[in-house]
Amino acid sequence: MKEQNIYILGIESSCDDTAASVIHNGKILSNVVATQKIHEEFGGVVPELASRAHQQNIVPVVSQALKKANINKEQLHAVAFTRGPGLMGSLLVGTSFAKSLAYGLNIPLIDVNHMQAHILAHFIDEEGFEKPPFPFLAMTISGGHTQIVRVDSYFEMTVIGETIDDAVGEAFDKSGKILGLGYPAGPEIDKRAKLGNPKAFKFTKPKVAGLNFSFSGFKTAVLYFIQREVKANPNFIAENLNDICASIQFTIIGILIDKLKLATKETGIKHIAIGGGVSANSGIRQALKDGEQKFGWTTYVPKFEFTTDNAAMIAIVGYLKYLDGDFAEQDVVASARLKI
Ligand code: KG4
Ligand code: ZN
Repeated sequence: MKEQNIYILGIESSCDDTAASVIHNGKILSNVVATQKIHEEFGGVVPELASRAHQQNIVPVVSQALKKANINKEQLHAVAFTRGPGLMGSLLVGTSFAKSLAYGLNIPLIDVNHMQAHILAHFIDEEGFEKPPFPFLAMTISGGHTQIVRVDSYFEMTVIGETIDDAVGEAFDKSGKILGLGYPAGPEIDKRAKLGNPKAFKFTKPKVAGLNFSFSGFKTAVLYFIQREVKANPNFIAENLNDICASIQFTIIGILIDKLKLATKETGIKHIAIGGGVSANSGIRQALKDGEQKFGWTTYVPKFEFTTDNAAMIAIVGYLKYLDGDFAEQDVVASARLKI
């Protein structure tokens, strides 16, 4: 039987967002994220700066999460934290903080795999959002990840495809950088793509066997294409920006949908749950809807605040593990390359 009245604090610090969240049973009471702006001027996350910013943010972010949830720390039943994967310097901040808090309060400590958390975010109780039934396929797409996972139960997950180089968000962001757009460029490419012709320019899709992905060749193809065109017409980017964005987005979505088609064919599973920042992309959302019509898929997209890096997803995993009595010891260590 489910225990009632459980409060868990979730802490996330794997990359450049310092986040804390309180979950009461399966429902989120607070979800606080401090996004580090410092990286924008570098066009990507600088690990050392991220770690330092986490150290500054963690106490205020956790305090705010408790305050917004309207509880005090003595009411917590456990502290859940991201153990990995991620940047070591960033992970260490959340890990050490969670350990000392749990120790000080004399409550269990729960270690969480960030990639599992992106998937289990679908199980947060949220009105208007349906939970996917097992088994389902989860596609996690963000600035740091590109993975297709077969999910048979909360903690039985198998990675069936992943990127061998860049993540899909990097394909958006690096293409944007070539075009002179700000960081991260995904949202602007999405906005401009709506105004452009997706077939204006053709980029070849990388050929990667099976369900794995590769995006580094795509980025190079965009670079060479732009260099060639700009040589012939220095105003090429300005004159064609919307069409270039639409064509880039069209190609990236094609790559993702091709792999999903193959994954559903190989597994026979047609329930598809997506997560990660790139799932905000309007083109990918439309393509998934089309897949419902064309291929009989059922697709699930969580509430946006639970899909980019956040601590609510850490808190829900904390809650599920708490119910199983699956706790970590005080000597648990952060793991930058933790696997599902
Ligand atoms: O999940 P997230 O917030 O952070 C991690 O990378 O873990 O994802 C950020 C990524 C960035 O690469 C950003 O460009 C991309 O998600 N992104 C988008 C859109 N919104 C965010 N990419 C395409 N279209 C969007 N609308
Ligand atoms: Zn993430």
